[in-house]
Amino acid sequence: MIRAAITGVASYVPKRVITNFDLEKMVDTNDEWIVSRTGIKERRVAAEGEASSDMSVSAVTKLLAETGTKAEEIDAIIVATVTPDMLFPSTAALIQEKIGAVNAWGYDLSGACSGFLFALKSGSSLIQTGSKKVIVVGVDTMSSILDYTDRNTCILFGDGGGAVLLEPTEDENFGMIDDILRIDGSGADALHMKAGGSRKPATHATVDAREHYIYQDGRSVFKRASNDMANVSAEILEKNNLKAEDVGIFIPHQANKRIIDVAARKAGFKDEQVLLNIDKYGNTTAGTLPLGLDEVVRNGRIKDGDLVLFAAFGAGYTWGSILLRYGPSKKG
Ligand code: ACO
Repeated sequence: MIRAAITGVASYVPKRVITNFDLEKMVDTNDEWIVSRTGIKERRVAAEGEASSDMSVSAVTKLLAETGTKAEEIDAIIVATVTPDMLFPSTAALIQEKIGAVNAWGYDLSGACSGFLFALKSGSSLIQTGSKKVIVVGVDTMSSILDYTDRNTCILFGDGGGAVLLEPTEDENFGMIDDILRIDGSGADALHMKAGGSRKPATHATVDAREHYIYQDGRSVFKRASNDMANVSAEILEKNNLKAEDVGIFIPHQANKRIIDVAARKAGFKDEQVLLNIDKYGNTTAGTLPLGLDEVVRNGRIKDGDLVLFAAFGAGYTWGSILLRYGPSKKG
């Protein structure tokens, strides 16, 4: 059986750091509140004019160099993002052009914080139907849709992302094992952007009403996220007759440390099995999972063949988990 294997990962975050103390000067908040309620200490923010395709190109260029992959070998580019450079053309097309992937096709996918999982599943399906090299990107420039006068949302998010290379394998020690993925549009009221789409195109009035920013009912989202991300993480382990101790690393979406703690506890993970970098980056939406994977691969917390469990929850609602064995990693 052919399965998709992750043979490389790379990530990128912008240089500029905004700390909680910086935010104290912008809105009525404080470091103690942010750290205790979310676990976030600082986040990265894109430079003026730096967009999602630019951050993606930095990550993908590194990925290609490190895996010894030529841009013309890429069959497809899938980009999970809710902050594309433009509504059209796709960010995938902009990345294709900038890296010279002359034989690729591709598309963007809107799955919010679960976007990278949805893109990984899509890329895996392409591999199973004959593609040889698929790039999957998770990236968001959240600063472009954040209202820095709204303390309910501006403290939560940051910019960044990462990319993986998917290739086919027949070796059962590597590759995608299982997934549980869900959407529930009843969550749209609790987390959305009010204007700028076909329902409410941009006008002076929508700009004046600050409707081109994230709107979130934090408490409702918190309840669902805690419940669903915890359940889906435990469910995929049970479905595959696995115990928490079998897993090398649990990489949960980084939206709130308290949500992560609930999921880790329910699935039975020890602290050392859980990737936590929300303190440094905040919530980078589709970026958190590839950023987390890159971190654990680079610092040696996991090695080829280790079990990786991803879980996420986000706007839609969207949520899910993916179980895989990392590698075989390719060195260029
Ligand atoms: N600083 C200080 N006080 C604040 C701040 C702030 N930045 N923000 C809110 N408060 C106040 C509120 O006004 C409220 O005051 P009140 O009691 O007088 O009304 C109080 O703090 C408590 O507010 P809550 O909303 O109850 O705080 P909560 O503990 O729920 O934390 C948070 C809020 C962090 C937003 C939390 O609800 C959360 O993490 N929600 C889920 C986020 C998430 O997972 N999103 C999904 C992914 S995002 C995506 O898909 C794009």
